[in-house]
Amino acid sequence: VDAKLDIDFDAIYQGTLDVPGVAATGIPWDIAAPQPAVVEWAADGAGRFAGAVLDIGCGTGDNAVHLASRGFAVTAVDGASGAIDLARARAAAQGASVAFEVADAFHLPYAERFDTVLDCALYHCLDPSVRAAYAAELHRVTRPGARLNLLGVSDRAPEGTPPSRVSERELRDTLTAAGWTITALREHRLTAVIPADALALFGVDLQAGADGRVRVPAWAVEADRA
Ligand SMILES: C[S@@+](CC[C@H](N)C(=O)[O-])C[C@H]1O[C@@H](n2cnc3c(N)ncnc32)[C@H](O)[C@@H]1O
Repeated sequence: VDAKLDIDFDAIYQGTLDVPGVAATGIPWDIAAPQPAVVEWAADGAGRFAGAVLDIGCGTGDNAVHLASRGFAVTAVDGASGAIDLARARAAAQGASVAFEVADAFHLPYAERFDTVLDCALYHCLDPSVRAAYAAELHRVTRPGARLNLLGVSDRAPEGTPPSRVSERELRDTLTAAGWTITALREHRLTAVIPADALALFGVDLQAGADGRVRVPAWAVEADRA
């Protein structure tokens, strides 16, 4: 069982997080590009995005900007105002139209509104004790038949991989109990920027590729709302 997760995202976005190894890392998930799994989900014929899209825990917004560039209507929310500031600036620089909002994933200001949800790397940041409530909140803000696309660090990643490793069983149990039917669950990767010394500090046996990016084993989950 993972230790209680309590990540200070505001401090990470403000660059003031005082954790050895992590401060030097900057924003480890900020690859200044959409995640490859999101690009695949949004590609022609993939059929994983439709209608009103919610990008939950959108971070610096590159996934949301990509989805907007593919013609989807995207609302992107994050609990950290620093993330939304960065995301809005990035979207403006690219002329992308995305509705960015600061909001807490457990108290979203919507009801039965979205046809698609993207959770790219939020679920594994949540403490296991609150994941059921989170999955239920996503159910509440989506319409019947909505699609959920979720990418999170898997338990096939090396022990110690931050912020937590999630098992297939846990994902299946949590999402199913909240009214989501999993239609696909496959191995994928989360691309991150984590310096070698930070990896060493966490004791994690992962190597960066030639491009300096670490590709962390992840689950790509597709689910439908009843
Ligand atoms: C690992 S980052 C991933 C960011 C982005 N989705 C990406 O792929 O680059 C997780 C994000 O979830 C946000 N977050 C964490 N807990 C949240 C909550 N309760 N409500 C809204 N956002 C939250 C964090 O601020 C952070 O931006």
